[in-house]
Amino acid sequence: MKLPETFHFLRLGWWMTHMAAIGAIAALGFHFGSAHSGHGAEHKPAVAAAPGSNAVRDEMRLLERALGGGAAHFASGDLRPIEHALHEVHAARERTTEAIRSGGYRPPRNGDQLERFLELDKDFHTQLEALAGAAARNDPKEAGAALGRVMQGCQGCHAEYR
Ligand code: HEC
Repeated sequence: MKLPETFHFLRLGWWMTHMAAIGAIAALGFHFGSAHSGHGAEHKPAVAAAPGSNAVRDEMRLLERALGGGAAHFASGDLRPIEHALHEVHAARERTTEAIRSGGYRPPRNGDQLERFLELDKDFHTQLEALAGAAARNDPKEAGAALGRVMQGCQGCHAEYR
């Protein structure tokens, strides 16, 4: 009578310890499992927030929009909207520089030559500033020449980095 009771107690004890161990392992698994998916979830929003987009693409779209309306503004004789649109490009450019410096963005090609990319980007934005200045002064001759230089910059950078 005594032995089975002890045996029963041991059996129960065995199960209690083992269930605790199994529980601990399950909890660990859950912890790491959720830590792992938490890790994934941390990275997902950056991609999911703007699917197919990144700092440079955002900047490029703004650039295209800013310059796309150019001809109409030359025709209307009021170039100031070009300057306004280029301000948005300038803000986007700062996000591009940040994304490159933080490692959050790498261009599709020559991703190891980032200093040169930033250099090209800087020159390009100097040209954009010249265009913005000429547009603000409503000077079609200067703005036209600056626009030509800006347009030459597109292909130069794309050939190396896009
Ligand atoms: C300093 C480098 C650089 C310059 C200058 C540059 N681009 Fe780009 N552009 C890129 C890179 C890099 C990509 C590829 C972005 C990606 O897919 O991550 C790109 C992509 C694009 C795209 C595709 C965007 C998309 O949504 O996939 C367009 C449109 C574009 N550029 C237009 C232009 C125009 C117009 C100019 C000139 C007025 C220009 N770019 C000048 C680097 C540049």
